[in-house]
Amino acid sequence: MLKWNRSNQYTENPHSVGKSACVAAIAQPGLSASHTLSRRAFVLSALALAGCAEIKEILLTEPPAAAVIMSPNFMVKAMIDLAAVKPGDVLFDLGCGDGSIVIEAARRGARGFGIDRDAGQIKLAVAAAAAAKVSDRVQFTVGDLFEVDVREATVVTLYLGDEPNLRLRPKLRSQLKRGSRIVSHQFRMGDWNPDRTVEVGGRYLYLWNI
Ligand SMILES: C[S@@+](CC[C@H](N)C(=O)[O-])C[C@H]1O[C@@H](n2cnc3c(N)ncnc32)[C@H](O)[C@@H]1O
Repeated sequence: MLKWNRSNQYTENPHSVGKSACVAAIAQPGLSASHTLSRRAFVLSALALAGCAEIKEILLTEPPAAAVIMSPNFMVKAMIDLAAVKPGDVLFDLGCGDGSIVIEAARRGARGFGIDRDAGQIKLAVAAAAAAKVSDRVQFTVGDLFEVDVREATVVTLYLGDEPNLRLRPKLRSQLKRGSRIVSHQFRMGDWNPDRTVEVGGRYLYLWNI
């Protein structure tokens, strides 16, 4: 098994799945360490078990950016539930990380698009989509989320921060169609009042209907 040490390097460890090392390596204020990287360990383990030969190479060559925080699995499902994602929807996750939100949307019959500036995360997302057999319904791109045209989206998911959410408002307001939904994990959109607020595991999800 591979283990991520504190200097952001992966090392071989025959005795551990690496989860505790990952969790110890990155702890963020406001988010428990077990949330922080446990899903990454889970995704990687699942891919490795699925026989994804590329994963070891990705891990060795593309360590994550210094602070990688992903929505935990229960939150991914809650976000998709809150947006009521269904076949026919097109979900854009802006800052998609390892792609789990996009992949969960595809599992529910929607199409999904994810963009992230972290090339290592995008490689993981592509591999995870293949393992989940949803590659035909998802697309992942390395790039700047602020440059993306979201006109095709019917659902936009965000787990970014107060400032990036505010910066996205003009684009979302001008490009999203009526009936679209925005779901943000933990961060609001300035003075836009959410249509729904849901508490999940001590954290908050916000929904805006366009
Ligand atoms: C907190 S993570 C959320 C990942 C995923 N959406 C989730 O909820 O699990 C935020 C992601 O946004 C990406 N990101 C931040 N700013 C970005 C930008 N300007 N362009 C593209 N990606 C960005 C980071 O690389 C990181 O993977």
